[in-house]
Amino acid sequence: MEKLALIFVVVVSASHAQLYLGGGYDYDPRCNISLTLRGEWYSREHGDDTFTTIEAESVRFNSYDQNTQRNLIIDTRCVALSVYNNDNFTFVLQRTDTPVPCYYCTRMFVRTLNVIDKISTTCVNINPSERPDFSTVCRGLDVNMEQVTLFSTNPTPKNCRSSLEGVWKFAYKNTYKFFGECKHPDANITACQVPGSQFFIDNQQFQVNYRKCEGMEDTQDGEVQFKCLGDWYIGKNHYFAVVNSRESRIDEKYRCFLANRDDDTFLGSSITPECNVLKNPQDAPARYHMEQVKTEIMEPRCKLPDNFTGQWINTANFDADVTINRTHMIERWKPDTGRIKEQIYVCVEKRNNRYMMARHGINGCSRDYVCFDFVPRHHSVIRYRKGKELRDPVFSTVCSWTMFKAKQDWRYDILVMKTPVSIKCPVAGKFKFIQTGDILFETRIRGGVTQMPRPNTYCKENISDFSVCDRDQRIIAIDADYCVSVDHFGRPVDIYSEPDHMLKCIGFWRENLKSYLITYEEEDAYSKYRCWVYQRADLNRVLMSLSVGAFCHVKQDVVSISSREGAQVALDMVEYEREHDDCPMYFDDGTDPYAQISDQAAIFNSATDVRIGASLLIVMFTFVLSLRRLRF
Ligand SMILES: *[C@@H]1O[C@H](CO)[C@@H](O)[C@H](O)[C@H]1NC(C)=O
Ligand SMILES: *[C@@H]1O[C@H](CO)[C@@H](O)[C@H](O)[C@H]1NC(C)=O
Ligand SMILES: *[C@@H]1O[C@H](CO)[C@@H](O)[C@H](O)[C@H]1NC(C)=O
Ligand SMILES: *[C@@H]1O[C@H](CO)[C@@H](O)[C@H](O)[C@H]1NC(C)=O
Ligand SMILES: *[C@@H]1O[C@H](CO)[C@@H](O)[C@H](O)[C@H]1NC(C)=O
Ligand SMILES: *[C@@H]1O[C@H](CO)[C@@H](O)[C@H](O)[C@H]1NC(C)=O
Repeated sequence: MEKLALIFVVVVSASHAQLYLGGGYDYDPRCNISLTLRGEWYSREHGDDTFTTIEAESVRFNSYDQNTQRNLIIDTRCVALSVYNNDNFTFVLQRTDTPVPCYYCTRMFVRTLNVIDKISTTCVNINPSERPDFSTVCRGLDVNMEQVTLFSTNPTPKNCRSSLEGVWKFAYKNTYKFFGECKHPDANITACQVPGSQFFIDNQQFQVNYRKCEGMEDTQDGEVQFKCLGDWYIGKNHYFAVVNSRESRIDEKYRCFLANRDDDTFLGSSITPECNVLKNPQDAPARYHMEQVKTEIMEPRCKLPDNFTGQWINTANFDADVTINRTHMIERWKPDTGRIKEQIYVCVEKRNNRYMMARHGINGCSRDYVCFDFVPRHHSVIRYRKGKELRDPVFSTVCSWTMFKAKQDWRYDILVMKTPVSIKCPVAGKFKFIQTGDILFETRIRGGVTQMPRPNTYCKENISDFSVCDRDQRIIAIDADYCVSVDHFGRPVDIYSEPDHMLKCIGFWRENLKSYLITYEEEDAYSKYRCWVYQRADLNRVLMSLSVGAFCHVKQDVVSISSREGAQVALDMVEYEREHDDCPMYFDDGTDPYAQISDQAAIFNSATDVRIGASLLIVMFTFVLSLRRLRF
């Protein structure tokens, strides 16, 4: 039995050796090709329809050769794979269906879930003494060669929004079909998000309505519906790929479009399933000269609260600036790729704190309606919830509670003033703290000035210090390494070290049994705005956690220490006030965030010596605000 097995092994390896003589090496394929690449892909290569089937360790190419009218199948197995940036895959593929193996070096760029671009060498033979790896097989790869585009034969439709959004009239040119430009007033491209579909499905297709031009042969009436396969950028070029799902001929199904990221005068399109024919929108095989349809303007019919007017920042969408006046709300943001986006909301109807707003259609798309549920402004903070967009302006539907996401845990989103006004901190006094978390407070030099040593002082005890001791108790000073020793007059010896952080308190409130505080620090390079969750644990003990970004995570708690809960550090603070500190402890859990304003006005009235400068201005500002309130 053993003998038999041995013979069998010998026979197998002998035939194996014979099969792969040329390469000379026998080794395991070490590839586990990413799931994003696996599946069947269609491409047009040298004019032939080609299907590429990618599995975990193998790649099969199957192309129909027009000349010989035969299918040509090439089987390969992956013997080396390198991944760069998660979207750039370089393969060494060994051909397994030839007596002498040859090797392809193939590089694939993942453009979207449905589109891959590829470059490849021809099948190369290598020296019998060499190993088939990147250095041997890939040395002939020309990185500047034309890329071949592969389209998934089983695509997952993507939202069209990032590819194309708006309504345009167009003049059309197709150099391969007719001379000149066909311009008909009724021809249009419509790429709009249609709200209010039963399941809130976002728009995954757009339409091109062609019209026949008088006297132009080969132009015709017709409507083509394209499903979006995703978009990508190469420099200023904005590519997107589409599939016409009503088309059965495979080579007519897939098309590639090219727009300029800064200018939508021209849109270029391929007339074959290829992207490499598109160099710029103007000279594409097919070209649309676009003219944007005007957006209908909605007249406002209600007013937003007076004290919403101003410049705000949407912390949930940190790049977004929000400008509010009595009737309009305009949100602008700059995506990582593409142009600045703008969304305009107009006040249409209000009941209590719910405002039905019309959302202007983007680039000529028709408008829809959305409900904002606002909490009256306190401090420099507006809290709100936004509902789902609907087509019809019926308040009871648009603003019904079911239009707001019914998640188990939810919190209001917040807008923070762009130039916030500082207020008395809800936690004030002098505390020492112990910190735990992903990112701890560290000693650093604010503003880049060389840190002063502490000359000639002996420090009995170093602590981490959290102090809110300025006159109005509006600024949190944090010193990660502070010397608490006092001299024999009871005065602190550490008069040289500067706090590491100075955070202005700009708003606080209580929600879902948690107290939230928003602070502002100009010098914070990562996020000027931060969210704290705080709680009093004892008479003189306070617990606080600090958010990673500007955003208060719904899971953030006083003891949160990791980014899983949106936090970076938690502080356990105990009050210590020394004889000369003159820094009384103060705590407000934020139950009534509106109370603060009258308190501040009171400070102003009773103050005998008001310091000139920022704090005076701030006090005056709040005073003016409260005066205004009185007038209305
Ligand atoms: C291949 O990678 C996938 C994840 O991408 C993993 O689930 C699978 O276990 C891996 N297979 C092997 C054989 O390593
Ligand atoms: C793709 O990755 C290779 C290394 O594997 C690198 O040399 C090449 O520059 C990358 N190409 C792009 C466009 O990122
Ligand atoms: C676009 O053209 C189609 C067909 O001609 C028409 O039904 C539709 O109303 C047009 N859309 C716009 C916004 O002009
Ligand atoms: C509010 O802003 C919009 C858009 O900028 C503008 O058209 C409108 O006149 C402004 N309304 C008031 C009351 O200032
Ligand atoms: C803003 O106005 C509302 C009433 O419209 C009032 O309740 C609130 O206290 C005001 N907030 C500020 C910060 O002035
Ligand atoms: C406190 O820190 C200073 C320098 O920052 C150091 O010289 C001193 O020894 C420390 N004292 C204690 C008790 O750790």
